Formats: sequence, structure tokens, C-alpha cells
Amino acid sequence: MQLRTENATQTVAWGKKLGHLLQAQDLLLLDGDLGAGKTTFTQGLAQGLGITRPIKSPTFTLIREYQMGRIPLYHMDMYRLEDSSPEELGLSEYFAGDGVVVMEWSQFVADFLPAQYLRIQITRLAQADEQRQLTFQAQGQRYQELVASLRK
Ligand SMILES: Nc1ncnc2c1ncn2[C@@H]1O[C@H](COP(=O)(O)OP(=O)(O)OP(=O)(O)O)[C@@H](O)[C@H]1O
Ligand SMILES: [Mg+2]
Repeated sequence: MQLRTENATQTVAWGKKLGHLLQAQDLLLLDGDLGAGKTTFTQGLAQGLGITRPIKSPTFTLIREYQMGRIPLYHMDMYRLEDSSPEELGLSEYFAGDGVVVMEWSQFVADFLPAQYLRIQITRLAQADEQRQLTFQAQGQRYQELVASLRK
């Protein structure tokens, strides 16, 4: 599935809609260049999960946990993984845990990812413009169903 947003507010709104549909152990991979809108989309996801705190980028902490929503949100950014290892971070425990994992820059831990996930690619359509293209790519039945629900 592909869709376009005209500004950050619309991207947040799609994130919120998806957030309403998420369940524990869902894994979302957010791809896209620096400033594409991955963290902005996650703001919406958090709202859809009932999290009222603002989402801060986990660029330096790598993982931020939000426990106050319907289910926990584990927001990860692997861009500065550097000296930490995926094992040290306990990634597999998060994937098998009690909440939703949303990961930016997952290519840095590609070998440690489960086989099933929903990948969301966010692309800037023109420089100095607010248009973004969001492309949803589902791996596995759970995520195909999730995208089908999001379409409705
Ligand atoms: N249509 C849009 N969707 C999302 N963000 C948009 C849009 N138009 C403009 N923006 C702006 O682009 C910026 C996106 O920043 P954001 O931190 O979400 O990017 P990111 O992909 O998480 O980057 P990084 O890789 O550095 O973590 C924000 O300032 C946001 O307001
Ligand atoms: Mg970000």
C-alpha cells in the first residue's frame, strides 16, 4: 500500500490510525532518510496507543520505553548503534515482549530481525517540500491483515 501526506499533521494522523490497530509483539520498521518523518510518524502511533507524553527521538539513548498507553511502546533508533551490540540491547526480548516495537534505521541490525514485520518507507517527494510518500510492505499474515485494516 502507498499513500501520500501533504504535511506532518497528516503523517501523524496515519500513525495514529495504525496505532489504534497495534497489538503486543507487533514490529514496525521505519525506513527513510534523515528528517523523512519516521519519528513524526511514531508520534501518531503513540497517540493511537493512548500515550499522552510527547515522543522524543531515541537517537542517543537507542531505546525509549513508554508504559502509559494501552500496551507498551518500545521506540528504537539504531542509527548510533556503534559500540553497543544487538544482544546487549536485548532486542530479542523486546520482540518477544509485552509491547509494540517501532524501529528507525533497522538496517543496522538487519541480521537480528524476526522474519515477520511491517516495513514503512517514508520518502520525501521534493526537497523543501512537505509532501511524503509512505509505502507499507508487510512480511507475514499478521501484517498483511494489519495493512488491510489500515486501508479501511
Ligand atoms: N509530510 C510530512 N510528514 C512527516 N514529517 C514532515 C512532513 N512535512 C514536514 N515534516 C517535517 O519533517 C521533519 C521530520 O523529522 P523526523 O524527526 O520525524 O524525521 P526522522 O525520519 O525521524 O529523522 P532521523 O533519521 O533523523 O531520526 C519534522 O520536522 C516534520 O515536521
Ligand atoms: Mg527519527
